[in-house]
Amino acid sequence: MYRKPYMDIIEADNLSKSFGSFKAVHDASIAVKEGEIFGFLGPNGAGKTTIIRMLTGVLTPDAGSAHICGIDIKRHPLEAKLKMGIIPENGTVYSDLTAEQNILWTAKFYGMDSISRKKRAEEILAILGLTERRNDIVRTFSKGMRQRISIACAIVPSPPVLFLDEPTGGLDVFSRRLVLDTIRRMNKEGSTIFLTTHNIEEANELCTVISVIDKGRIVATGSPERLKKTFDTAKYVEIAFEQPVKKEWLETGGAFRVENHGDKWRLYTDDPDPAVKFLAALAEREHLKIISVATSSPTLEEAFVHLTGGA
Ligand SMILES: Nc1ncnc2c1ncn2[C@@H]1O[C@H](COP(=O)(O)OP(=O)(O)OP(=O)(O)O)[C@@H](O)[C@H]1O
Ligand SMILES: [Mg+2]
Repeated sequence: MYRKPYMDIIEADNLSKSFGSFKAVHDASIAVKEGEIFGFLGPNGAGKTTIIRMLTGVLTPDAGSAHICGIDIKRHPLEAKLKMGIIPENGTVYSDLTAEQNILWTAKFYGMDSISRKKRAEEILAILGLTERRNDIVRTFSKGMRQRISIACAIVPSPPVLFLDEPTGGLDVFSRRLVLDTIRRMNKEGSTIFLTTHNIEEANELCTVISVIDKGRIVATGSPERLKKTFDTAKYVEIAFEQPVKKEWLETGGAFRVENHGDKWRLYTDDPDPAVKFLAALAEREHLKIISVATSSPTLEEAFVHLTGGA
């Protein structure tokens, strides 16, 4: 098998995918370095799962290519899959087996001998807080416990690359913490992580690099700190007048964007000081009564909404 030398452990070049006439992914290129925790952040329907499915060989792209550890996923799917653990959106576990049997079966699949299988199962059950439930049939498990079993199976071989699609979606605080701790632990032990999430705070807390995807296109990539910096510079002044005002009036004040929110106007600016002075002068000139005025930095969530064109 040909394995090319690689710079990045996950490489996607210009991946595209359509379903019928709908183009779900446009020319997505991704490069993830060994050792990163890469977060793929985007709203519902942005194309996150579609891209994960292409990277993991479940779905064939219409155009573009993907390499995992330098192995072409299209040409050598089996070899590439041996390099990865996959936790899909709706976890795949054997409902009729017990928690422990699921792990043992997976370990057998990876060719581990019976002593190593038993030892690894023991270890993983403890990591994911499932030791007490080891002999219970997975069908009887709650969503959070099923998700933990799904992760347990994916980490059995300590894969070089771990793909997790919405690993904490719908989990309670306890399960969520276990899952995040497990992701960090796997990363420390050498796995490169690729995960998707809607949760910007979670991505901020966990990831070393984030790509933001919207409507099938990657719109920003950077470390959380770098992305936050972009967000942080976007401050706004919010004002309400008693009388109706024309948007054009507000647009002459130097703000880079003016938005109407209910009875309030938001003027986005890097520096609120001249914007507030401009508004006071405008009120004076047009005989407007100011009801309220406030300055604010947008929350990360608002920034994300702007970045993904949802506003
Ligand atoms: N098999 C399919 N057939 C038709 N359309 C599909 C298929 N799979 C995905 N799509 C469409 O492609 C777009 C992207 O879907 P995808 O599941 O990748 O989004 P996502 O970012 O994972 O969203 P979510 O956050 O809701 O999981 C959506 O509009 C979806 O309806
Ligand atoms: Mg999805």
